[in-house]
Order: sequence, then structure tokens, then C-alpha cells
Amino acid sequence: MPSSPRPRVLVTRALFPEHVERLSSEVDATLNQADVPLGVDELVAGLAGVEGLLCAGGDRIDETIVARADALRCVSTISVGTNHIDLAACERRGIVVTHTPDVLTETTADLGWALMMAAARRVTESERWLRAGHWKRWSLDQFLGVDVHHATLGILGMGRIGQALARRGAGFAMKVIYHNRSRLAPEIEADCRATYVSREALFAEADHLVLVLPYTRDNHHVVGAAELARMKPTATLTNIARGGLIDEDALADALEADRLGAAGLDVYEGEPRINPRLLALSRVALTPHLGSASRDTRRAMGDLAIDNLIATLAGRAPAHRVV
Ligand code: DGY
Repeated sequence: MPSSPRPRVLVTRALFPEHVERLSSEVDATLNQADVPLGVDELVAGLAGVEGLLCAGGDRIDETIVARADALRCVSTISVGTNHIDLAACERRGIVVTHTPDVLTETTADLGWALMMAAARRVTESERWLRAGHWKRWSLDQFLGVDVHHATLGILGMGRIGQALARRGAGFAMKVIYHNRSRLAPEIEADCRATYVSREALFAEADHLVLVLPYTRDNHHVVGAAELARMKPTATLTNIARGGLIDEDALADALEADRLGAAGLDVYEGEPRINPRLLALSRVALTPHLGSASRDTRRAMGDLAIDNLIATLAGRAPAHRVV
């Protein structure tokens, strides 16, 4: 009896060798090991007759694409965020969307912590200065920053990553305050030693504010001129969620006018393009969307995305279905 054909899968990004091996043993995969970004036309052409799409955060999977992908049954993204996928369009067509939560929580919280520390203690700014050969002597007032220990950590968005950040606060003897769409259960608040406050109080009271909320149409530029004006002039603002949460020109205005202490950014509106005003400012620590980028975590994310994809294509329930 002829065996049934293996499902066809399009992969948009270069994968680790072990992921390629596993995927190739289970499906008929079209790979992109050269990591060449696929435009809309290439995605549409590549998805003809294809049942599974393995993609990542920077791939825009919108209505134009899914409407023309007649055979598509599953979009599996190697990311926890799904704002790059038109979920409603997928749902209307019965296309399952899966993502990779949990495995990246602690790694992403680590990067948030690193950026917050870098912004508060001027780590990247002073390193650039040192490398440029400017350091001639030690002096009492060189690159003075603000303390992280015993300061107030503010967290906007208290999901898994927000909670992981809050738990780190205990090690630095910080007071932790948070705002979230809904208040956490008392036992989770106690575990995180975090106090729920209004959004206004969060902006006003935080010495170090970290954004960890998912990006949706409703919270576009949730940090704009009005919110920045509420913050302490010495405060730091760190974003490890999505660039569209911050009005970047308003942030540049605040930093240029010394109305905000410093910023730590891993994500940008329109990335990989960076607002030139942010690039020109010394008191901003910048990383290229590295939140989950440890070897183990990226490996785990790839494994999970492949598990989700293969389960769905085999007619089983994937572990992490979004729609
Ligand atoms: C995520 O998992 O959403 C990260 O931001 C990588 O895209």
C-alpha cells in the first residue's frame, strides 16, 4: 500500500541543525537555511499547496497571505508573541495558530534585568566612552547613575515574564509595584512580593519601570508623552515586550530634555529600523531583540514550535494553541 504523503511545511527562518533533522524526518520541509527574509510574494508563492508554516516574530502573516494559502492548516511561530499574525483571519479559515510560551520566561526576564541595570548604571554608555579612549583618570562624579537595590521596581503587564521580573526584585531588596489588566490572585502577589497599583501610580512611583505586556491594537503607544511626563526625572524605562508600546519620539523628547533618567530597549517600532533620535542618545542601552536569545532557550523554543506544528498536522491537539 502506498504510504500517505508527508505534510508540506514552509520554514521562514534558518533553524538549528537538530531542528532541521527532526523536521525533515517528519515532514516535507522547504527550509530557509540562508535566512533570507521572505517578502509577501515569496511567502504567498512558498505557501502554495503547503499545510504548515513555521515562522518567527518578524514575519508578518496577515490576511493577504493566509487568504491565498489554500492548503494551510497550521501557523506555528517560534515566539511567545503573536502580534505579527492576523489571528482573526486564521481563525476564520480554521487555521490553527500555536506559539512557544513558558520556555522563554526566565531568559527574557534576565535580559530585562540586564537592560534595566545597564540603563541605571550607564553600563553601555560608559563602555562606549572607554573604548573611544576617553578614560584618563578615576573621578568621584564619573558616570553617576541611580541605584537599583532598595529602589521601586514598576512592572506594566504581570504575566509570566512580569512575575519572573518581580521575583528577581527580592534579591535586590526592591519594592515591587505592578499594573495589569486584571489583578493577580493574592497568593501570586505574595509569591512575587508585588503590590497592585493604578496605572497612574505605577508611572509616578517607579524608579525603574519595565514593560512586559503583550502588544495589541489597544495598547499601541501605551507609553506616550503624558505617561512619560508622570515619571520621575531620574527613572529608567525598559522595554522587552514590543516596540509599538512606546511612542519613541516622545521618549526621545523626554530624554533630550532630561525629563527621564535613561532607557533600556530591546524592541523597536518598525525594527530592525531604529529611530535615529534614540541611536543618537547616550543614555539609552540598546539590544537587537535578544530577550529569549540564550542557546538553551532558543533550542527549547524551536523544539516546542516543531512539537506544536507536528501535533496539529497529525490531527492532535498542540500543547500551545492560540486560536
Ligand atoms: C517572543 O517570543 O515573542 C520574542 O519577542 C521573540 O520574538
